[in-house]
Amino acid sequence: MKKTKTIAVVSEKGGVGKTATLLNLAGSLVINQKKKVLVVDLNPQQDLSTNLGYVPPTVKSKTISEYIYDQLEGVDFPIVAESDKAGFIKHTDYGLDYMPANRNTLEILPRNLSDSEEDNMCIANVLKDKMFADYDYVFIDCKDSLVAHLVPQVLIAADYAMPITEVGINSLFDVSEVIKKISHRYPVSIIGVVLNKVTEQSNITKNLLSAAREEYGEYLFKTQIPDRKAQIEQANDLHLPCVIARNKHRKQNTLAGYYTDLATEFLEKVKEMEESI
Ligand SMILES: Nc1ncnc2c1ncn2[C@@H]1O[C@H](COP(=O)(O)OP(=O)(O)O)[C@@H](O)[C@H]1O
Ligand SMILES: [Mg+2]
Repeated sequence: MKKTKTIAVVSEKGGVGKTATLLNLAGSLVINQKKKVLVVDLNPQQDLSTNLGYVPPTVKSKTISEYIYDQLEGVDFPIVAESDKAGFIKHTDYGLDYMPANRNTLEILPRNLSDSEEDNMCIANVLKDKMFADYDYVFIDCKDSLVAHLVPQVLIAADYAMPITEVGINSLFDVSEVIKKISHRYPVSIIGVVLNKVTEQSNITKNLLSAAREEYGEYLFKTQIPDRKAQIEQANDLHLPCVIARNKHRKQNTLAGYYTDLATEFLEKVKEMEESI
């Protein structure tokens, strides 16, 4: 059985916490669970790359889009030499690896699903490369919306989809929509929806949460992430996931425990799903 599992981190709306959740879950899998994890930034906003401290070079950018080009342009003229492949994967000093994004080159890749099998499979083909085979988990940070640039290609390629939704005082959330849209259009399994920025002060949110759990409990991660913006920003400023930021400069970071729980639950869910196949 294939060892590496690929997870598409998606959402219908922007700003719900895809990047923050992905980075912190990945960090917890590395630190707490000793897993080998690669995170791939496929969002032209480059937030994941920035939050990891990536500074783009002025020339010869080596990011996921240059890598995809290599696949699309065909076997005849490979841009990326075998010996050069390692340069596309960047390393953090705490063990998390990443592939950064390049806004300019990412924007001009194939847009949507088309009649071209090659375009539709571009991410699936990239992920076949043996340089990904070393990892337990590859998380892909997608652009906002399920139909945006390259998101369908990622959903075709991934083993699991992990939708993120925001559950703040001011936001209604629609878990059913995202579940339906993904499961009707793609063969990918939903590993679980993460409820993020949860504030339970208001009765409206409390009622929404209990209704969602009653109806869609099996699709939801039990661990929900509270609304604590200062802690996310503090960790981003340090270019670290919360589990490590917690120990730096005596910063309080109570979110770290939630991401640790999310990582434990993530592994349980993967195990459950693999056993049910
Ligand atoms: N659990 C959280 N509590 C409070 N703010 C959060 C939380 N998760 C993310 N945010 C904030 O919400 C904003 C959007 O998060 P981000 O991860 O960039 O979303 P997306 O990748 O979906 O666009 C950022 O300012 C981030 O700091
Ligand atoms: Mg993002």
